[in-house]
Amino acid sequence: MKRIAALTSGGDAPGMNAAIRAIVRTGLDKGWEVFGIRNGYAGLLSENLVQLNARNVGGILQRGGTMLGSARCPEFKTEEGRMKAVRVLRQNEFEALVVIGGNGSQAGAYEISQMGFPVVGVASTIDNDLYGSEMTIGVDTALNIALEAIDRLKVTASSHQRAFLVEVMGRDCGYLALVAGIAGGAEAVIIPEVDTDPEGVAQELRSAYERGKSHALVVVAEGAYYNAERLGLYFQQHRERLGFELRATTLGHVQRGGTPGAFDRLLATRLGAAATEALAQGNQGVLLGLVRGEVAATPLADVVAHKKALDPRLLELVRVLAR
Ligand code: ADP
Ligand code: F6P
Repeated sequence: MKRIAALTSGGDAPGMNAAIRAIVRTGLDKGWEVFGIRNGYAGLLSENLVQLNARNVGGILQRGGTMLGSARCPEFKTEEGRMKAVRVLRQNEFEALVVIGGNGSQAGAYEISQMGFPVVGVASTIDNDLYGSEMTIGVDTALNIALEAIDRLKVTASSHQRAFLVEVMGRDCGYLALVAGIAGGAEAVIIPEVDTDPEGVAQELRSAYERGKSHALVVVAEGAYYNAERLGLYFQQHRERLGFELRATTLGHVQRGGTPGAFDRLLATRLGAAATEALAQGNQGVLLGLVRGEVAATPLADVVAHKKALDPRLLELVRVLAR
């Protein structure tokens, strides 16, 4: 192995820069040339390349986002687009590609590996919905940002005896909402994986007041049918009958833009280093992730074939702890 390229793809995640830095410096340590591809698969198709050295990945460890830029690239989803991508990789004499990203990005990585080009993936998305890694890069930081907001909302909620709704990110997966709800002490959590009856939520909130609580908090994942907009509207339409209002706050991209915390910096560094090590050992077509607390490689074929399941006991825990 002499020459590799790395890209970041999909939603950016705090810690992506630490992964880039680790890939570059461990690659250089092996005597390789390391290139960055700007703006994910879109930059691969337009040959937007930059050679990286030890110095130009300096000072990025503590920065959120990704120095390489990221993108969603519909063209790469077509066979023609992927053939072009592999052509670009070969023309530039790269011997392997490292893809730092979430579900969609790793599906793309798998497609490239199926076309005979060596690829390894690095598990990175704030959604934590990637099979093959119990924690992905960015989750911990995004969660802490959500918790800071929840803690503040609870303070004002208690002062005014109000009910609050906080919407966190999570297009298809309720992980962030569920764990933010548990760690933030929510009365109810609404996630895309489970159907929700808004009357049931109203009942949970009312009974919280009846039990003597001074606030009531609902955490909802953006991908749930009853997201902030729909649930907010429902409570507005039934305000008289329900007897209280629900104030909504949508955190949105605020959660993605944070400074990576210690956990994400370390995870990203370990996974990035493991990615170059896997390539050095001729192990490709795999995702580097965290399995039972250890860095492990899972075949990309398994990653794309499985959906990461949420632990249903966590939802039950929300109910029990809301007493
Ligand atoms: P994430 O990687 O964060 O889940 P996306 O799902 O948006 O983000 O995927 C990022 C990019 O990966 C997409 O814009 C597309 O270029 C590529 N991609 C997504 N799904 C596939 C797929 N099934 N096959 C090939 N490429 C894909
Ligand atoms: O996949 C990460 C994520 O932040 C999701 O939680 C969210 O639904 C999506 O990206 C938002 O994507 P965009 O930044 O393209 O609006």
